[in-house]
Amino acid sequence: MNEHLRIDREQGLLTLRLNRPDKKNALTRAMYRAMADALDQADQDKSVRAFLITGGEQCFTSGNDVSDFIQAPPSDLSSSEVFQFMRALFEFSKPVVAAVSGSAVGIGTTLLLHCDLVYVSRDAALKMPFVNLGLCPEYGSSVILPRLLGHARAAELLLLGQGFTGEQAAEWGIANQALEDGAATLAKAREVALSFQRLAPSAVIDSKRLMRAPGREELRRVIEEEGKLFSQRLRSPEAIEALTAFMQRRVPDFSKSA
Ligand code: COA
Repeated sequence: MNEHLRIDREQGLLTLRLNRPDKKNALTRAMYRAMADALDQADQDKSVRAFLITGGEQCFTSGNDVSDFIQAPPSDLSSSEVFQFMRALFEFSKPVVAAVSGSAVGIGTTLLLHCDLVYVSRDAALKMPFVNLGLCPEYGSSVILPRLLGHARAAELLLLGQGFTGEQAAEWGIANQALEDGAATLAKAREVALSFQRLAPSAVIDSKRLMRAPGREELRRVIEEEGKLFSQRLRSPEAIEALTAFMQRRVPDFSKSA
């Protein structure tokens, strides 16, 4: 297990809580590895009926640890820890519920597109600032978001990197419901996740598989393509400038980019 993750078991519910508050729950390679293991084990364990992912009542996650991106950009994303985590989430056969409060940046928003039920605080701040970091969309979001929101709104989120609130996420169908605060959000997500305890487990698994089946092979192909481009972009001068600027708390300068 990892010092920045807490895993709790309550009846058939496994709750994974990100716990790195001093860095706004930024995700390190070790955290991704531990999250992938937790998902893989929960999928094998017949007594687990649902998986809840949360960052607690204050902050979901500020996304990938930026210093990890600078110091150790994966050369082959498909063998990287983050890819292992997203693969485990993508392949997870049981329901995944998310409780989101505060910031959900980068992969913190992308991963919600692969959860089954998402509860957010009204004032949660979601954002996919990939272009702002010289990067590109990841894990199928370049296909899932335009389908869900239409091209115009998806372009605001992915080409401009515009942020949006929990309330908007619920209005647009990215989340199921927006609640008044972090405590109410976590309580609602937990109640829903625990309700799977009373449902027929195989019927739930079969239903999730059917819902996820259409376009799944195309999505796998897109995820692979996005992953290749993302690894290339991580080493680009644009990304190096943007990531360094974040760590130095300054605005990136793309004026010299071609
Ligand atoms: N990676 C590494 N460290 C991060 C981080 C990340 N993704 N996000 C935040 N931190 C660190 C900050 O550097 C700061 O560390 P310090 O106290 O040692 O200086 C600490 O966490 C608190 O962050 P700060 O920016 O001061 O908090 P805030 O409340 O003002 O803003 C965020 C919170 C999440 C809006 C802001 O931190 C942010 O935008 N983070 C970058 C997210 C990002 O671009 N992620 C995408 C990667 S693809």
